[in-house]
Parts: sequence; structure tokens; C-alpha cells
Amino acid sequence: MKVRCGLARGQSPGCHREGPLLRPLPLWRQRSGGLTMDQPTPHDQTYHIPVMVPEVLSWLEPASQGWIVDCTYGGGGHSRALLDRYRAVRIVGIDRDPDAVDQAPDDPRLAVVEANYANIDEVLGRAEFPDRVEGILCDLGVSSHQLDTDGRGFSYHRAGSLDMRMGPDADRSAADLVNTADEQELMSIFKRYGEERHARAIAAAIVAQRPFHDTTDLATCVAGAVPAAARRGGHPARKVFQALRIAVNDELAGLTAFMDSAFERLATGGRIVMMAYHSLEDRIVKRAFVDRARACVCPPDLPVCVCGANPDFRILTPKAVRPTAAEIENNPRSRSAVLRCGERIL
Ligand SMILES: C[S@@+](CC[C@H](N)C(=O)[O-])C[C@H]1O[C@@H](n2cnc3c(N)ncnc32)[C@H](O)[C@@H]1O
Repeated sequence: MKVRCGLARGQSPGCHREGPLLRPLPLWRQRSGGLTMDQPTPHDQTYHIPVMVPEVLSWLEPASQGWIVDCTYGGGGHSRALLDRYRAVRIVGIDRDPDAVDQAPDDPRLAVVEANYANIDEVLGRAEFPDRVEGILCDLGVSSHQLDTDGRGFSYHRAGSLDMRMGPDADRSAADLVNTADEQELMSIFKRYGEERHARAIAAAIVAQRPFHDTTDLATCVAGAVPAAARRGGHPARKVFQALRIAVNDELAGLTAFMDSAFERLATGGRIVMMAYHSLEDRIVKRAFVDRARACVCPPDLPVCVCGANPDFRILTPKAVRPTAAEIENNPRSRSAVLRCGERIL
């Protein structure tokens, strides 16, 4: 685990890092000596334009005198907005991508840790952080920096290595997956994570034409495998790339594990804000909120609750919050965002 931090719980200012990266650097980081090639300035919006900032600030206001964990630090846009608006707040940023950690600024109220948010228990187990926090923010998915960096392999528009790992904790690249998984597994990935109607034909074409090492070759193969009509509404490789990214980074299992830990890490009165960009992610968040707010553990066939459990959580957004039309116009990548917020009440 690597930490970039300023002042936390009586420590002296400055940065420290721990733990070497044990795996070889992927190509995109080898070429840049471990850092991104064009280093963005801290909180430069070219890294990523943060989504629904006023809404996030408002839902997290009750946490503004305490600690907030920004579980998907990225370009740090949400963290910066919180630090600028709330003078007393302290933030633990988490990101599994070393590029995100490397570009975090030195700020005495901010510590950024390279980790998977599914390991939030391990991060908050560190001596310099509190066990329970007043706010948790999770802005799921990939950053514009990840999508737009040549060699990361997230975009079918950009030629380069078929990698797609958000960070070195992911075991296999998209090329490993595409070149070794059997046809059935590929089909089920495209169906499940991409809701791709032509999953079977695409999986068959990939298996017949592999190996693939390059994004463009894979995108061309996918385009050739679908009927002409399916090539009209957007690039036919979009859903396949999204599905591979979700599989490579084990995103849904990580999110499911995270939700359980996150509730436990909220202090009484603490708020959790989750922003999802994909229906499968949002479903996991919504279900976890509903289950936690219900709390009853009686068998479903009992007519009345006999377990006497008191829910320790309430949902503050009965209807999901979405970006305004003006925000979507300014930042089209915000269009699929869905925000949900809840509060720990016991
Ligand atoms: C949409 S971006 C966040 C952007 C950020 N809110 C901002 O304002 O710049 C998502 C970030 O979450 C990180 N991420 C995704 N899944 C993660 C996980 N399981 N653990 C830690 N970081 C993750 C990605 O590497 C990416 O940097």
C-alpha cells in the first residue's frame, strides 16, 4: 500500500510512501517512468471533470466537521471541492490506480492511499486514520484520464495495448482474458456485464481470430461479428469494452464486498454517497441500501416482524438523483450518473 499524505492525526507534514509495487509495471507506466506522460496539475479538470459536485457537497455537508473517505479519488475533483468548501474536513482518498495517487497534491488535510476500496477496512485500520468516519463518497467507474490515456486500453477509439487494468492489483489484463477464456465464458461476460445482444457471435469471432494484443484489432473483430444494423447506434465495440473492463477489474464483486464494510465504517449520523454509471452497479448499491435500511432478519414468509431488529440506516434519496440537463450538456460523460445517499442512524 502506498500513501501520499500531509498532516494526519498529529503527524508531521510531508509525504511518505510505503510498500513497493510488487508486480512489474504495465506498459503505460513503464513508458512514463512510473508517472503519466503528461502530468496534470493537481485538480486540473483535464484529468477528470467531477460529476454532480454541488449535490455531493450538499449531501456530505453534515460530515464537513469530520473525516470523509473519498473511495475513488481519481483526479481529486470531489475531494478538492470538499476541502475548498469545508475548512474543518479531513479526507482519506483511495484509488487503486497509482497515476491517481501520484498526482494528488500535498495538503495537510488530505491523505491518498493506493488501495482497492474493497479493502477500506485495511485502509482505515492504519493508525493515522479513525476507525469510523462521518462521510464516505464513491464515484464509480473509470476516470477520463484512464479512458483517454494511450496504452491503458480502456477505449476502442485509441490504438494501443489491450490492458484495461485500473491498477496493479488486477491479476490479468484484457488481452489475457480475451486470449485465454473459452467461448462460453466470453459470451457470458459480454451478456452479463455489457448486456450485449450479439454476445454469442462476438465470442465466437474472437475465439476464431485470437490472439489479440491491440484495442483496434479487437474493436475491428467485434464490428465484423455483428449485423450491419447493430453498427448504426454507436460503436459496436462499446459494450464489449465495458464488459471486459468490468471483468478485468472484478468491479461488481469489489463493490458488493465494499458495501458491507462501508456501512460498518460510518459513525452514527455519518453519510454515504454512491455515484454509479452502470445499471448493474446501481442495482448493487440500491439493494445494499434497501437491505440495510430494512434490517429485519425474519424469514420472508413470516406475516409480521418478530426479530425486533432496529434498522441503523436510512435512505435519504428515495428517488435516485441525476445530473441536470445543463451539466450533461457541459459534460456528456455525466449523463448516466445516478447518485444515492444514506445515513447511519444508530
Ligand atoms: C470516476 S473516477 C473518480 C473521479 C473523481 N471523483 C474525481 O473527481 O476526479 C473513478 C476512479 O475510481 C478508481 N477506482 C475504480 N474502482 C476502484 C476500486 N475498486 N478501488 C479503488 N479505486 C477504484 C479509478 O481508478 C478511478 O480513478
